Amino acid sequence: MKLSIVGSGYVGLVTGTCFAEVGHEVICIDNNKEKVKQLQAGKIPIYEPGLEDLIKSNVAAGRLRFTDSIKEGVENSEVVFIAVPTPPQPDGSVDLTYIEQVAREIAAVLPAYRIIVDKSTVPVKTGEKVADTIARYSKSGAEFDVVSNPEFLREGCAVDDLMHPDRVVVGVASERPVATMKKIYEPFKAPIYITDINSAELIKHAANSFLALKISYINHVAAICEASGANVDEVADGMGADKRIGRAFLNAGLGYGGSCFPKDIKAFIHISQELGVPFTLLKEVEEINADQLDRFLKKIRSALWVLKDKTVGVLGLAFKGDTDDVRSSVAISLCQKLQAEGAKIRVYDPQGMEKAKGDLPGAIFCQSGEEVFEGAEAVVVATEWKQFRSLPWKELKSKMMTPFVFDGRNLLDSEAIRGFGYRYVGVGRPQKEIKQ
Ligand code: UDX
Ligand code: UDX
Repeated sequence: MKLSIVGSGYVGLVTGTCFAEVGHEVICIDNNKEKVKQLQAGKIPIYEPGLEDLIKSNVAAGRLRFTDSIKEGVENSEVVFIAVPTPPQPDGSVDLTYIEQVAREIAAVLPAYRIIVDKSTVPVKTGEKVADTIARYSKSGAEFDVVSNPEFLREGCAVDDLMHPDRVVVGVASERPVATMKKIYEPFKAPIYITDINSAELIKHAANSFLALKISYINHVAAICEASGANVDEVADGMGADKRIGRAFLNAGLGYGGSCFPKDIKAFIHISQELGVPFTLLKEVEEINADQLDRFLKKIRSALWVLKDKTVGVLGLAFKGDTDDVRSSVAISLCQKLQAEGAKIRVYDPQGMEKAKGDLPGAIFCQSGEEVFEGAEAVVVATEWKQFRSLPWKELKSKMMTPFVFDGRNLLDSEAIRGFGYRYVGVGRPQKEIKQ
């Protein structure tokens, strides 16, 4: 099928590439001319495992191309996806300016019947507004259908999530676009849920909020473990073994960050408020998440006492492992809070350094994880990059002033780390004396 996608960011670019990979002809559109030039030149603006190879092979096969022209995309495709940002406003509501603008731009060039599919995360009832907007601004008066098709990919494993989705949600207002949408997704061999548009839009906010709730739930259980001497890893395993609960998203840590959860939970709180059914449970989810970092900082303070002029090494800047994305990263907030208390920070992230530089003036950006340990009074694991596990921890201890390890992601084997003579502090894991 001939498809186009407006917005070639994390969502649009990966989606477009995977559509091409299964055989569709895809045009990725972006209004950032510089980004389009880079993509045309074979430079990939984001780090996402497996993406670069897929883009190259699909461009070479003639199934994937890039343009800054919405007109070119709309004219040459049967279905137009929208994947532009929907950022939060100060009151938590969603800024729909980009969606509205793209809807108007599509309307202005609509040559004949097209299916316009919203992939961006939007408040319930946005589809109705998009349809109104296109009808109002359409020059040709051509027929069209608006569809809601939320995306559930996770950064860091986006290609795999897209190629092997648990389910595909397609919200429609009539039967007409259903067969085409099924045809697009047929190669992915996933169950397709056909719903009305409002339900599809709600599924995305309800799913993300539920996942965030799981994280805050386990993080508070971790606090109870710390207060009682229990071990959150064992509690999560024991809970998660119940199929009704599931082990996924029960990893205690510094809390959730990223470009989705924080904004989507805020948005869902705002939407529910506007609809007269305030979702106060989600406010608690947010509060627990915010407290999580403060509780962790308290542990660092209680070990190092005064932070001013202390050197703290930080492993990880991205909001999670396997990505270069530092948007709303808890690791960055942690660094900023340490700096605000006068600590000198040495930081390293396998992919996120470039994007973090603007957020951390004064930080020392190291070339490797090993360098972070140099003269440090503590090392903090702030992002769950698996490769931090295989640093030569045994040898690195001698580079530090005082061997404190604060594992904000429960990434390390606490017993092994203690065995090397470190003082190890995790999240919801029992405190023990070091082994001599
Ligand atoms: C996406 C979704 O679209 C958003 O709704 C969801 O909640 C989070 O993920 P994402 O792909 O992460 O956004 O955003 P980003 O990486 O910033 O990419 C968006 C792209 O759209 C950028 O390349 C930007 O240049 C482009 N854009 C923006 C347009 O092409 N037109 C516009 O009008 C605005
Ligand atoms: C999320 C949703 O998972 C995805 O379905 C949606 O499309 C976009 O939002 P993403 O933000 O890319 O994906 O990453 P995710 O793996 O969900 O992690 C989000 C945050 O939660 C990260 O900061 C991560 O560190 C944290 N997290 C995740 C935990 O603290 N514990 C966990 O058990 C899982």
